[in-house]
Amino acid sequence: MFTLKKECPEYFRYQGRRISKKLSDTNVNLLNEHYNEHTLDKKIIDYYKVRDDKKKINFNNSNFSQINLEIGFGDGEYLLRSAYSRPKELFIGVDVYVNGIAKVLKKILEHSIENIILSNINCLFFLDSLSSKSIDNITIINPDPWSKKKHHKRRLISFQNIQLFNYVTKSKHSTKITTDSESYVESIKEIFHEKKEFLDDLKFETLNKSDELYGISRYQRKAIEKGQKIYLLTI
Ligand SMILES: C[S@@+](CC[C@H](N)C(=O)[O-])C[C@H]1O[C@@H](n2cnc3c(N)ncnc32)[C@H](O)[C@@H]1O
Repeated sequence: MFTLKKECPEYFRYQGRRISKKLSDTNVNLLNEHYNEHTLDKKIIDYYKVRDDKKKINFNNSNFSQINLEIGFGDGEYLLRSAYSRPKELFIGVDVYVNGIAKVLKKILEHSIENIILSNINCLFFLDSLSSKSIDNITIINPDPWSKKKHHKRRLISFQNIQLFNYVTKSKHSTKITTDSESYVESIKEIFHEKKEFLDDLKFETLNKSDELYGISRYQRKAIEKGQKIYLLTI
């Protein structure tokens, strides 16, 4: 991971944090020794070296019944839970947050998990390296809200990125996003209103305690504790 990052830093770049606290020596060794066996990063960089559409990544030869992608998995709680409970499906987790990658990698090794693939590459480069219709489902649990108005342009859910999600997914309404940010919800609704000729309808609901995607991550639970609602947008 570290060698690839040094060689091609542009694919790993991101405006927020990537390491929250210094990685322990154990985690550095873990990443150095085992990360390459559980990632697509090298394949992605190889695609960018030639940018040949034929080299785009697809999962056509995979024996998994579904290919799921989680963008920004954080500590990996939902990614791991999904992989344990649905062993016949593949779960690809993409996050620029190295500490989260190390946490999930540790679990993969401890429990010999065979249905998780990780990527530390900025998800926009990750998505752009995939073939059209290569993914069944995308899940994004509470993307960074970038609450200040001057930072709204950093938000992951933009018109351009929605088009990217639609390009890589096999069917309509396959991307699920949860957020506790009302201003984020409003901005997504606005995109769908302004670009309605290019986009399918947006499905919007407020989640209840009994819903599968409610209370499923540390970030979400913090919001719930503060009395915030959790919204689900299906695009
Ligand atoms: C607010 S946190 C939410 C983490 C987790 N889903 C949760 O709910 O606890 C957003 C996560 O998205 C990751 N992230 C943000 N932008 C990203 C990007 N462009 N590519 C990959 N990961 C990204 C961050 O590193 C962070 O882990």
